[in-house]
Amino acid sequence: MHLGVNIDHVATLRQARYATMLHLPNAEPSVLDAARAAMLGGADSITLHVREDRRHMQDDDARAVRREIALPLNLEMGATPAMLDFALSLKPDFVCLVPERRQEITTEGGLDVAARMDELKPLVAALMGNGSRVSMFIDPDVAQVEASAAIGAPMVELHTGRFANTQGEERAAETARLVAAATRAHEFGVEVHAGHGIQIANLQDLNNVPFLTELNIGHTIIARAVFIGLSAAVREMKDAVSALQW
Ligand code: PXP
Repeated sequence: MHLGVNIDHVATLRQARYATMLHLPNAEPSVLDAARAAMLGGADSITLHVREDRRHMQDDDARAVRREIALPLNLEMGATPAMLDFALSLKPDFVCLVPERRQEITTEGGLDVAARMDELKPLVAALMGNGSRVSMFIDPDVAQVEASAAIGAPMVELHTGRFANTQGEERAAETARLVAAATRAHEFGVEVHAGHGIQIANLQDLNNVPFLTELNIGHTIIARAVFIGLSAAVREMKDAVSALQW
């Protein structure tokens, strides 16, 4: 199981103090150092989201990680012409297309691929043609999986936010949706990833979902890093993930 570590929150913390002073050598914490620490802890890839409003990661952060860090880079981005241009110049190993505005979001919060197939298909083709493998961040919804496969996306990242934030019967129902979506993706030969709200406490339940090959995890790792350091927090998660048979 691959572990992608999302380090957006490191940039969020830096922006809280230095948003208007990024040129200063003392602007901290360093996104590059965070990527290095994640690598030391056993991250298989680095995930960062360059948002349209640049609220955390900046273009230069993405370029620096691409240049300096010897791990695959997974760029999360909105499906817009401006972000496409940026991704074409950055050439990340992976691009995960995510919703940024209300009208792009499905009921649960994934990208509404089914409603935007005509628009998304050429974008996926352009990114793939430029050497970036593309995933669609979608709800665990069979229709969204089918739409993603139909537009040529080789990977989907299933939104686990609802799974993570429910308990009991609701968690079981959401797990069943994840199982159905992952199974359908596998039938289409689409690689299955998962992300959002994953924590050590819910890994055991997530382990019921078949065909998962990658987890993208951010918040809980950074939260834990406040107390034990980033490399140790990544190692702790990596060990917890590796302890399960996927
Ligand atoms: N995957 C995607 C597409 C995301 O947008 C996020 C949240 O930024 C994550 C994974 C990581 O979620 P979390 O920070 O809750 O672990």
